[in-house]
Amino acid sequence: MATMATTDLAINGGTPVFEKPVPFMAVGLTKKDIAAATEVLESGMLRAASKCAALEERFAEASDAKIGLTCANGTCALQLAYGALLEPGDEVIVPAWTYIATVSMLVAAGAKVVFCDSVEASYQADPKDIESRITPKTKAIAVTHLYGIPCDIDAIEALAKKHNLKVIYDAAQAHLATYKGKGIGAFGVAVTYSFYATKNMGTGEGGMVTTNDPAVARQMGLLRSHGETDKYLHEQVGFNYRMNDITGAIGLSKLDELPGQTERRREVAKLYHARIDQIDGVHRPVPTQGSEPAWHLYTCRFDPDAFSCTRDEFMAALNKEGVPTALHYPKSLTRQPAFKHIVEQNGGHEPPVALKLAQTIFCIPIHQNLTDDQAHGVCDAIEKVANAFRK
Ligand SMILES: Cc1ncc(COP(=O)(O)O)c(C=O)c1O
Repeated sequence: MATMATTDLAINGGTPVFEKPVPFMAVGLTKKDIAAATEVLESGMLRAASKCAALEERFAEASDAKIGLTCANGTCALQLAYGALLEPGDEVIVPAWTYIATVSMLVAAGAKVVFCDSVEASYQADPKDIESRITPKTKAIAVTHLYGIPCDIDAIEALAKKHNLKVIYDAAQAHLATYKGKGIGAFGVAVTYSFYATKNMGTGEGGMVTTNDPAVARQMGLLRSHGETDKYLHEQVGFNYRMNDITGAIGLSKLDELPGQTERRREVAKLYHARIDQIDGVHRPVPTQGSEPAWHLYTCRFDPDAFSCTRDEFMAALNKEGVPTALHYPKSLTRQPAFKHIVEQNGGHEPPVALKLAQTIFCIPIHQNLTDDQAHGVCDAIEKVANAFRK
């Protein structure tokens, strides 16, 4: 594309790349999903029953995990995993660059949170930085496969082995992602998922935790349902974090389509990679070696030194071209008021890459309904805005 003048930009009255904005995500139910939910509604079986059980079996199998437990949402999935694996006071290393729930549920479990940094190109927890934060009190590493990109599992599992730590993976955004040919459910003590409406497999609210350890599964099962081992016999204190069969049926119906949809997301990512690699000053995500991401989000980085505009102005210009953008996330978790005490406890340390990412990232549309033409249009718009603002 020829060099553009800023006057050509839609933000300045020029013709936008898309007349009608390209959708940022694909959400909603198909007729088949609705029929599956209706069947349950008509049956009157509204609690967790055969549909949840089938979803547990099929989702675990699709993720290379032995056991799955459905639950109310991804936050509850984290609580089940942390509740089963941690004791109050345990020191846990967790990235500052993730969604709040990964960390807030550690706080809720009474753990001592230690923030680690992330690798700038992949956005995933940095094993070297994790290692530098391990102390004799460290009991676990809680890491996210952020944006659906598996983190450096081999390096993290090696650290865990060396220091006798548990690893809990937050895969809320990483349904069906793989690492070195295996589903991500094959790794760690527990892997948690969210089926929130906008997730790759969205049931509205909903979640799952998988494990390969029957003892951990039993403990998470007790926590999920009031510690009940027999009708009205409660072995321990627990919660009600159960899913229901309407959600389970929607999940089962959506799971049928998920492999094909994930494949399509991967095709779009490949197209984006090739195009964005040609645009100076904009960097594309670089997945961890050996990983096949689920591409829940496609997150680029803006080089502030390359352009005469700010990242936010760049995003605003893209939006006007018909390319919606989003910030996942606008802040490092060290900047969340809720975690001020953690930063103070850790001597004021804030992982620098997380701070930098908060200033430089922006997410562009990725989903299974994006056509090649739309994906090229998204890249044309980035190129147009980049050419107009390049120094
Ligand atoms: C990385 C991550 N962890 C945890 C969650 C929490 O899941 P839920 O919203 O289903 O409670 C989310 C959902 O937004 C997430 O993206």
